[in-house]
Amino acid sequence: MTHLGMARAGGKTLGIALAIAALSGACGSIAQDNANSNGGGGGSGGSAPFDPASSGLPCDVADVVGQNCVICHGNPPAKGVPLSLTTYEAFKQPAPADPTITVAEMALKRMQDPKLPMPPTGMLDPSLIQAFADWVGAGLPAGDCGGAGGAGGQLNVPTDPLPCTGQQWPPTSNHESPLMHPGVACIDCHDKHFNAPVLTIAGTIYGDAYIDNDCYGTAGAQIEVTDANGAVYTMTSNPAGNFYRQGPVYFPISAKVTFNGKEIAMKQTVTTGDCNSCHTWNGAQNAPGRILLP
Ligand code: HEC
Ligand code: HEC
Ligand code: HEC
Repeated sequence: MTHLGMARAGGKTLGIALAIAALSGACGSIAQDNANSNGGGGGSGGSAPFDPASSGLPCDVADVVGQNCVICHGNPPAKGVPLSLTTYEAFKQPAPADPTITVAEMALKRMQDPKLPMPPTGMLDPSLIQAFADWVGAGLPAGDCGGAGGAGGQLNVPTDPLPCTGQQWPPTSNHESPLMHPGVACIDCHDKHFNAPVLTIAGTIYGDAYIDNDCYGTAGAQIEVTDANGAVYTMTSNPAGNFYRQGPVYFPISAKVTFNGKEIAMKQTVTTGDCNSCHTWNGAQNAPGRILLP
């Protein structure tokens, strides 16, 4: 298996870098210094730049802080600003204004306070406040917003695949069967074995992310593939989570998965039906890891 580490497309960067331009009043000159240097990860005027990777914060929290707070709460903080908010440890400290709660709890309170908001220029988008609230609600788990992907790094991607929680392949008998090698690139191997049936579409559906090869996935999901001629092929995942097709298919194809009335579609089209070749445990060729239930 190719190991592509954590290189990803997209990542979690929130598109709000320019909101900082609105900060002229309270923090004028600093805001201007930063207007040029804020390239998505955030800067902190005149002081050490905020680095999401070494901050110890989860990515989504680091994004909120980097793009909305460190312009004043940098290291050192701007004039008249009581504290620096560039590290995980800073958020764990007792809040200066109320030492019975943490700085993180105080930060959330202030972000949610329409009369005394943080940032002082006005309340953030509710989705950003929610990301911060979820982190506080979860008890401030430390994060690692770094890795090979830099600012695009994903939240909490484990360094190794997660072990099977349910059944594992192979069972004691029945080695080559429709249940074989869940999670592994089926067609890549079948193409190398003259005795293996020719598969044109094949893959595995999982209920959880980052699961290792040969762990059973989820049965009963509908996989719908539309080929270049507009032909639609519907498959249902078997008890190993596997699905496959043996008849002809014209590429490129699109795909969507339906389960319990919900659906999720792949946005792009692809030129191979070997779904698991991209949907490895941590994702190859920019895929977001396993094909998960919607
Ligand atoms: C324009 C500058 C500026 C920005 C941007 C800013 N702050 Fe502040 N912050 C201040 C100032 C000045 C104070 C002190 C006065 C006050 O409490 O209102 C403060 C106080 C605070 C306090 C109170 C600490 C205490 O216990 O006394 C917290 C917590 C805080 N900010 C968090 C944040 C967070 C989180 C963000 C980003 C979402 C943020 N701030 C953005 C200027 C800023
Ligand atoms: C490491 C190689 C390898 C991988 C990976 C693999 N297969 Fe196979 N598969 C084989 C071989 C070899 C056979 C033929 C065995 C025989 O009949 O002698 C086979 C047979 C099959 C058969 C026919 C079984 C039967 O009862 O006749 C199906 C269906 C099948 N594979 C589906 C899959 C699916 C779906 C995947 C991916 C989730 C997959 N395979 C992954 C090697 C592989
Ligand atoms: C060449 C690599 C590649 C292959 C092959 C591939 N995918 Fe994908 N898949 C991706 C990438 C990249 C994304 C994320 C971007 C997108 O949605 O287009 C994705 C996204 C998805 C999503 C949406 C996931 C989400 O969280 O939004 C589903 C569902 C999916 N793929 C199913 C399939 C199925 C089913 C197959 C096999 C028929 C397949 N994929 C084959 C690369 C691939």
